[in-house]
Amino acid sequence: MRKVLTQPDCVCVNLLLLLHTVNSVKFEVIGPSAPIVTDAGNDIILPCYLKPNISAEDMTVEWFRVRQSISDPGTLVHLYQDGKDQNQEQIHSYKERTSLFKDELKKGNTSLKLYIVKATDNGFYQCLVKSLSWYEEARIEVQVKAVGSQPVVSIEGHRDGGMGLVCTSKGWFPEPQLEWLDSKGVSVSTGPPETHRDSQGLYTVKLDVVVKETDTNSFICRLIQDHLNVQMNTQLHIPDELFDHTIPLKVSLGVIVPVLVIVLVVVIIYFRVTLKMKGQKNKEALQEMNRVIHEKGK
Ligand SMILES: *[C@@H]1O[C@H](CO)[C@@H](O)[C@H](O)[C@H]1NC(C)=O
Ligand SMILES: *[C@@H]1O[C@H](CO)[C@@H](O)[C@H](O)[C@H]1NC(C)=O
Repeated sequence: MRKVLTQPDCVCVNLLLLLHTVNSVKFEVIGPSAPIVTDAGNDIILPCYLKPNISAEDMTVEWFRVRQSISDPGTLVHLYQDGKDQNQEQIHSYKERTSLFKDELKKGNTSLKLYIVKATDNGFYQCLVKSLSWYEEARIEVQVKAVGSQPVVSIEGHRDGGMGLVCTSKGWFPEPQLEWLDSKGVSVSTGPPETHRDSQGLYTVKLDVVVKETDTNSFICRLIQDHLNVQMNTQLHIPDELFDHTIPLKVSLGVIVPVLVIVLVVVIIYFRVTLKMKGQKNKEALQEMNRVIHEKGK
């Protein structure tokens, strides 16, 4: 059923229409609904435009990063004001990597070009467009991905009563997961990996483990990056000789033999000295005996 407008309703509608005409400079700022997904190193466009497509040439166009926390430093990515770029306050890592499409501004297209995307560019951006009487903003998400290297494994040697193994992989974004498995696929990891971020924001991950001897002495370092749908495995076989049980014996022999030699030398010296002393005493006793016999014979 249609609603019949009463007198006050009519006044309201007229007022709204009037307001609309006065504020005809109103506009919407539109960004993409889906994230912009890109590989590190690409050039990308962060789409943003006005609706209706009025000129933005005389407006302020400000691109900035959405702060993750209050303590985040400067957030400006690109600023266009008074008809020109004004990037003195720009975040340093964006220096000379941003531009607007100057010919597109008059069509209300305030998209930003970002060159040579880095992992640190990952995150949310805001496209803020201001006229003298109105402003609007749109939020744009950028998802950077970087597939790193196949994990590299190595044997560190005897450690904590087992064998120390280490697995490393570089160049990832986002951060991948890393774990050590035995040949049955059971995790033998004992802690989280060590992670390090380089200046481009890419992750290096490193995972140490100490393993005991098994039937196969075969171990796998597994890297998983769910967002990138990547799984990489690197297998490692520990040669049986390394688990050789004579090794501790060899080590102890290395200590015991010199000690034995020293003890032996000390013992020999002791006996020689006492023997000599005894010999001396025997000699004296013999002489004494001879003397007594001699005197008796006299
Ligand atoms: C604005 O958009 C309309 C159609 O949506 C198009 O015909 C017109 O050329 C555009 N104006 C500018 C300045 O690009
Ligand atoms: C804005 O300009 C860029 C670069 O020319 C173009 O790729 C994009 O499609 C434009 N967006 C709109 C809405 O016209």
